[in-house]
Amino acid sequence: MCGIVGYIGHRQAYPVVIKGLKRLEYRGYDSAGVALLNHGLKVYKKKGKVADLEDSVVGLDLGGQVGIGHTRWATHGEPSDRNAHPHYSASGQLAMIHNGIIENYAQIKEELQHKGYTFKSDTDTEVLLNFIEEIRNNNECSLEEALRIALRRIVGAYCILLVDAADPDTILAARKGSPLVIGIGKGEHFLASDASPIIEYTKEVVYVNDYQIAIVRADELILKNLGNEKQTPFITRLDMELAAIEKGGYEHFMLKEIHEQPQTIFDCLRGRLLPESGMITMGGVENHLESLIHAPRIIIVACGTSWHAGLVAEYLIEELCRIPVEVEYASEFRYRNPIIHPGDVIIAISQSGETADTLVALENAKEKGAFIFGVVNAVGSSIARLSHAGAYTHSGPEIGVASTKAFTGQLAVLTMMALKMARAKGTVSDERYRTLLHELHAVPEKVAAILKDTASIKAIAEKYKDASDFLFLGRGYNFPVALEGALKLKEISYIHAEGYPAAEMKHGPIALVDEKLPVVFVATRDRFYEKIVSNVQEIKARKGRIICIASEGDSTIPSMADDVIFVPDADELVGPMLSVVPLQLLSYYAGLAKGYDVDKPRNLAKSVTVE
Ligand code: AGP
Ligand code: GLU
Repeated sequence: MCGIVGYIGHRQAYPVVIKGLKRLEYRGYDSAGVALLNHGLKVYKKKGKVADLEDSVVGLDLGGQVGIGHTRWATHGEPSDRNAHPHYSASGQLAMIHNGIIENYAQIKEELQHKGYTFKSDTDTEVLLNFIEEIRNNNECSLEEALRIALRRIVGAYCILLVDAADPDTILAARKGSPLVIGIGKGEHFLASDASPIIEYTKEVVYVNDYQIAIVRADELILKNLGNEKQTPFITRLDMELAAIEKGGYEHFMLKEIHEQPQTIFDCLRGRLLPESGMITMGGVENHLESLIHAPRIIIVACGTSWHAGLVAEYLIEELCRIPVEVEYASEFRYRNPIIHPGDVIIAISQSGETADTLVALENAKEKGAFIFGVVNAVGSSIARLSHAGAYTHSGPEIGVASTKAFTGQLAVLTMMALKMARAKGTVSDERYRTLLHELHAVPEKVAAILKDTASIKAIAEKYKDASDFLFLGRGYNFPVALEGALKLKEISYIHAEGYPAAEMKHGPIALVDEKLPVVFVATRDRFYEKIVSNVQEIKARKGRIICIASEGDSTIPSMADDVIFVPDADELVGPMLSVVPLQLLSYYAGLAKGYDVDKPRNLAKSVTVE
């Protein structure tokens, strides 16, 4: 999720900063830039890779012992040179880089525009920078004080580095919600989003806390709170190696991204789901609400894990909005010369936003007059740009080839979308609507609870790692989860696995059941509970090995199972975001137990941009 690097000291800043940005590339980004303080302030920035930035500055003045650098993961304004960071302030005297989202930027931007400010970019970052400059000019105060005043007004998450051409010996930094580490050198300081750009220079670091401002000079580091009170920097010694740091201390990106889900689901809901006021704000939905709720049909187009999210969305939209939904594999849909009626809405779901089958299917549908709503993770990606409207999942870059946090981010967006549409259409009662808002709001915490104890899941994965086949069964909202669990296991452990509607077993697949076959039931408490109990009994009667995902407090199903993984109780409509987590871990630990590269499974690509 983007990256920040800063340097101030006796070295030339540019080499330190650009190398630091390369250390942060694993976090994923879409553009990069640096600002250097030498004789004046110079900003170089570019859409694309850090290497593209390097190529673009060959022969230019890269001198200076103070520098800041940024890799952007766009949230406001698509990836472009002008939206890349650092941004200049209106006066050209200040430059700033920012990780995070300023949620109330639009209101502040309007106030500044009324004062005559114009903006070179679409970003929330430039708004914050000009807000800081406006405060300094208005109050005739220090830049540090202006920064403090601004940060007390804004809402959102930030890690910012700010430099002033008039004060070439200082970098100002601040954080809330986006990490910032400061490396302590001899006559020099290093700043970064994590320790990977710092560790080769020093292992003495200070982790800046939320609501702190850092005043950083070559030989001085001052920390203050937003009340202008000095705070003692707490210096710790890094005991990790570089490779471990890039993965946040996890052994693999996949495990890191599974464990990021409480935060990424929270980030996805933040600023959109307001349970206290009973509101869901989603600009892309609001601006096209009539087209959406009066659509004669909704067609969901996706591939792989995103297709499974689409299946959950089918159940959600049909149940809550009473609109017919079809879920199509993009690779089939694109070649079928599908019938698209005027008013049909297509929901495209894609983590990468670059999946060729999905992209071409959408291009064909758009030509036939369909309205396209994109649910995408990668901001500014092809599918996002091709859509008439959309909602980003804000899951941050997903590095592991197996999609995990993007899937739960998709479900969070689709659940909010279905609820918002149903509310507007009047097809959901006020009580049910409010209950579901609170249920959705509680998901991040419940996912965190599941992730507190993964040892039992690891043990189950190791127990069954040598099986040649698996079945994954579920009903209702848990049926798509069964499919997703089977896909994860196939992808990561190369064990053959099939997902099936539990009731379909008796129509053939039950012939597969014997004492060697592990059968995973996604059997959390829902309207089908009694039915799924019967399905478990059917398998047990044939000596199948039963693994259950069950609701905490349930004793019936666990009494029939060989192994049980409990998840917190939740309304079945938000249940998939919980019940999928143990299955993600099951596949991860099975692949690990078999010695496979769980981040880069054989034959697979992260984004399938070929047809
Ligand atoms: C999921 O774990 C797989 N990596 C794959 O099925 C993926 O979901 C599919 O290729 C679609 O990718 P997208 O979401 O980026 O369009
Ligand atoms: N919200 C800022 C932007 O869209 C910063 C995004 C980031 O964290 O890289 O430019």
